[in-house]
Amino acid sequence: MCGIVGYIGDKKAYPILIKGLSRLEYRGYDSAGIALLDEGDLKVYKKQGKVQHLVDYAESLSTEGTVGIGHTRWATHGLPNDTNAHPHSSGDSNLVLVHNGIIENYDVIKKSLAKRGHEFKTETDTEVLVHLIEEIKNNSGVSIEEAVRMALREVHGAYAIVVISKDDPDKIIAAKKSSPLVIGLGEDEYYIASDATPIVEYTKNVVYLEDEQIAIVDRHNGLRIVNISNKEISPYVQELELQIEELEKGGYDHFMLKEIYEQPRAIHDSFRGRLNASEGWISLGGLKDYEDQIANSDRIVIVACGTSWHAGLVGEYYIEELARIPVEVEYASEFRYRNPIIRQNDVVIAISQSGETADTLAALKMAKEEGATLLGIVNVVGSSISRITDAGSYTHAGPEIGVASTKAFTTQVTLLAMMAIMIGKKRGTISDTKFQNLLNEMEALPQKIEKLLESNDYIREVAEIYKDASNALFLGRGSSFPIALEGALKLKEISYIHAEGYPAAEMKHGPIALIDEEMPVFVIATSGPNYEKVVSNIQEVKARKGKIIAIVTKGDTSVKEIADHAIEIPETDDILVPILATIPFQLISYHIAVMRNCNVDQPRNLAKSVTVE
Ligand code: G6P
Repeated sequence: MCGIVGYIGDKKAYPILIKGLSRLEYRGYDSAGIALLDEGDLKVYKKQGKVQHLVDYAESLSTEGTVGIGHTRWATHGLPNDTNAHPHSSGDSNLVLVHNGIIENYDVIKKSLAKRGHEFKTETDTEVLVHLIEEIKNNSGVSIEEAVRMALREVHGAYAIVVISKDDPDKIIAAKKSSPLVIGLGEDEYYIASDATPIVEYTKNVVYLEDEQIAIVDRHNGLRIVNISNKEISPYVQELELQIEELEKGGYDHFMLKEIYEQPRAIHDSFRGRLNASEGWISLGGLKDYEDQIANSDRIVIVACGTSWHAGLVGEYYIEELARIPVEVEYASEFRYRNPIIRQNDVVIAISQSGETADTLAALKMAKEEGATLLGIVNVVGSSISRITDAGSYTHAGPEIGVASTKAFTTQVTLLAMMAIMIGKKRGTISDTKFQNLLNEMEALPQKIEKLLESNDYIREVAEIYKDASNALFLGRGSSFPIALEGALKLKEISYIHAEGYPAAEMKHGPIALIDEEMPVFVIATSGPNYEKVVSNIQEVKARKGKIIAIVTKGDTSVKEIADHAIEIPETDDILVPILATIPFQLISYHIAVMRNCNVDQPRNLAKSVTVE
């Protein structure tokens, strides 16, 4: 969370910073701010709220300068107001800094700086860091980069920072630990950002900073990198694959809707070159060297957060069902703090859209220390999780900008299905017929999703009926239970309706007490082994006057008779139902949120990339 940008070059920095901040707004939108260096003058403008507030505020002010930094905030320490907005300034106002992360020992440093006369204007941990750099610089007479390096040796926690100084107007200093930072290399100009999205339209050549590295970007002398021990590091330049069009709404009202509609393409991309039904093979290149290890592992542990954790739950079902290896799915935030048993023959799989989630990253680091094999299912290429894992597979969903995850989820589940089929085949735990049938069905998924999306108008009508609900219940069984959880999460996070997901049979152990004529109950009631049991659960809801919105298989008649509304999905193998069944829930949540005038792409209090624990 929090997005940071920086620019130094020949162009005017302000429009580049603002555009960059808009691209990074998914990382937080509590406040936005910039600092510009212009002929010895250091201007700082910051405003609570979205980047647009900052733009409105800066309209009548000077925005000159070819060096600048910017920040969009997801508040951790201190209220989201103008004062606590970044950039933060040193006591003498010569230095300004933007920060993503948390300085955990800020309080101790703050007290000690205060004793030496420092006065603080904000409640943030970040302001402490800029004062510390100032003190070191002024007392030791060292360069700005050396002062930054020395200060960072004193702090604990996570940081990506960018610093500029009035005294060194031709330099930008950037550093990172745990939070991401990437540097774009243009012609005599440099871009710095939390991810590549603000950079891609100017240059495709980038350097991803590693933990505890400090970049000194000098207008005249180019880029130099040192580590925290002052060892010189050669920058490793990579080429971005990202396309600028992927970052635009492309005619849709919201990114979320665009991303829902991109799912046929995204899922196709996630298996392109990795499976071929007519030739009867499946192969995940990134896992090639680890296939035996996975197939022979004693246990697979999946760590993830949020929607990715729901994908993990589906993965548990897949791997146990098809490959017969025991699987545990853990919230990364719990796993890392509960002294879990990790053995050398365990395979730990992290699932993450951003590849930057702090808890997932920390869980992986812990498992690595215990000697486990680490695999990643990640969307963002080059992200921290993709770099720390031994091997993995990218989901290839393309950039997901809406905060509520949609195509990232369905591609994660697609990859987990491929992994389970591949390992099942290797272990001989699935029959040849089942294997072939699954490959056929996987290849047919994009087309089936296209078909399903044709129900959008009907789904909007259903949404209209339930848009004013205060509560909702989502039910599913087997591998559709995680889809019930995911459906509930989608609804609550973007429309602010309280929703809970439950295994359908568990309803009678509590949630059934909530059911009355006001309560919409969304049920996955597709054909398959659990069908009749789910029908009984639906009857139980109807007997208490609850409203049933059922996801059914095309051609269903029984559920349609008793449900208030039935949304059909195309028939597929039971294993792949979760991928299709989740899409009507995405659309329902989307339409309800739009009808309730909620900010669909940037729901309140949330951020897409959670780089603090
Ligand atoms: C945030 C996002 C969710 C996401 C979760 C995990 O809460 O809003 O959409 O599922 O983080 O993020 P990751 O990038 O690790 O999948």
